[in-house]
Amino acid sequence: MLVSGTTLRNRYYIIRLLGSGGFGDTYLAEDRDLPGNAQCVVKHLKPKSSDPEVLSVARRLFDSEAQVLHKLGNDSDQIPRLFAHLEENGEFYLVQEFVDGQDLSQELTPGKRLSENEVVKLLQDILEVLRVVHDNNVIHRDIKPQNIMRRQKDGKILLIDFGAVKEISTLMPNHQGQTVVSVAVGTPGYMPSEQASGMPKYSSDVYAVGMIGIQALIGVTPNQLQKDPNTLEVIWRDRVQVNPKLADILDKMVRYHFSQRYRDAAEALEAWQSLISTIPLPTSPPSAISTQVVSPNNPQSPNNPKSPPWKVLIGSGIGLSIAAVGIFIILNLPEPPQTELPQTEPPQTEPQPISSDDIKKANNLYEEGKKLLKLSKYEEAIAAFDRAIEINEELFDAWHNRGNALRKLGQYEEAIASYDRVFNIAPQSFWAWNNRGLALRELQRHEDAIYSYEKANGCATLRDRNQPFLL
Ligand SMILES: Nc1ncnc2c1ncn2[C@@H]1O[C@H](COP(=O)(O)OP(=O)(O)O)[C@@H](O)[C@H]1O
Ligand SMILES: [Mg+2]
Repeated sequence: MLVSGTTLRNRYYIIRLLGSGGFGDTYLAEDRDLPGNAQCVVKHLKPKSSDPEVLSVARRLFDSEAQVLHKLGNDSDQIPRLFAHLEENGEFYLVQEFVDGQDLSQELTPGKRLSENEVVKLLQDILEVLRVVHDNNVIHRDIKPQNIMRRQKDGKILLIDFGAVKEISTLMPNHQGQTVVSVAVGTPGYMPSEQASGMPKYSSDVYAVGMIGIQALIGVTPNQLQKDPNTLEVIWRDRVQVNPKLADILDKMVRYHFSQRYRDAAEALEAWQSLISTIPLPTSPPSAISTQVVSPNNPQSPNNPKSPPWKVLIGSGIGLSIAAVGIFIILNLPEPPQTELPQTEPPQTEPQPISSDDIKKANNLYEEGKKLLKLSKYEEAIAAFDRAIEINEELFDAWHNRGNALRKLGQYEEAIASYDRVFNIAPQSFWAWNNRGLALRELQRHEDAIYSYEKANGCATLRDRNQPFLL
């Protein structure tokens, strides 16, 4: 950690720590070369390994990410400008514009509920900035209240803390000598399953924004929301009485499968715009269903006598808090392409049939993963399963054993996401349901765990049960 008074490049004078995460530290600093010693923010990224190969990949990633951030900061005044990026002693620093304001976790506090009108305004504000990010072929990957700031002088929303930069701190050599991202960047609750599996899409960011919307409406953090064990869709509509069209848009933003969500920020924004152009929304917080029931057709029912006339347009203010949690997944880090940025979403193409050679290759990787799993080399096993899945996404045994390895590492949410992938292909897998139950039990989600065990009991045949999957 840098002590206050440290000066980088004889120019950036560290004043105090602003935040400390698993990926690095963020400081308030002064630029001693500017008149008035203007304030700036220094973000310190420390690769976890000093291996020269890791450092060289980190440097390349750092340079390309700095270019992206620089462009984004110039394209939008709602993304902090990048002033400098520098490397000292194998550690990396980003110097960026200081935003005088507070992040949304200060505004959205547990139990606080916003009006429908305020929620729509907030989501539109976030999506407007996110559209610039997506237009630049960038996926943010860690959208949550702590990474959204509200500037004091004009009340505008700013996006900070882009996920791809954090990855620089997570690079590690794997057993095959490749440099890999050892931790999936993202935050449980705001991170959809495809992102937890190392395959983020633009619509992964849309999911996170949708979760913020639901949180703002009902005043609880996404981790406190139940999921339908059959469909894995978020269950929230029964907790608050809101306009069903608004609820439909939120539901579409947070669909479990990315293909059923709005594709990107622009598409989600369009949906909100068409909603507010046709339907006025209430400006006072909606009632929680558990305490008050309001007829959907009559928002000013006797149960809700104080509802003001429905108006369009809003105030502001939101907040909430959630711990950022690192997740251990080993992902292959491809060489950044010459012409594309590393976090660019690959073009969506028709799925190609898998050749028998590829099936063999995937099976071999899966077998390798199983051996590593037996040797308790969990991270390496996950890397092998990831490669197998990359070739053959339908290899459900690889998803299953990947889940087991994640569970062994204590990464229960990720383990559950991995088991869930099994059911797309093999909904009757006794061991996957059973092991999913074990992971849920670790998370103290007892009701969900019981459901999983019941599913296991319901689908198991004796032959299935005798397959030695349980670790
Ligand atoms: N440009 C900025 N201006 C003002 N405060 C910032 C800025 N960037 C970060 N912060 C503050 O520091 C905290 C941590 O920074 P962040 O970039 O989110 O790093 P991380 O979450 O990886 O620790 C943020 O939640 C925010 O409160
Ligand atoms: Mg952050």
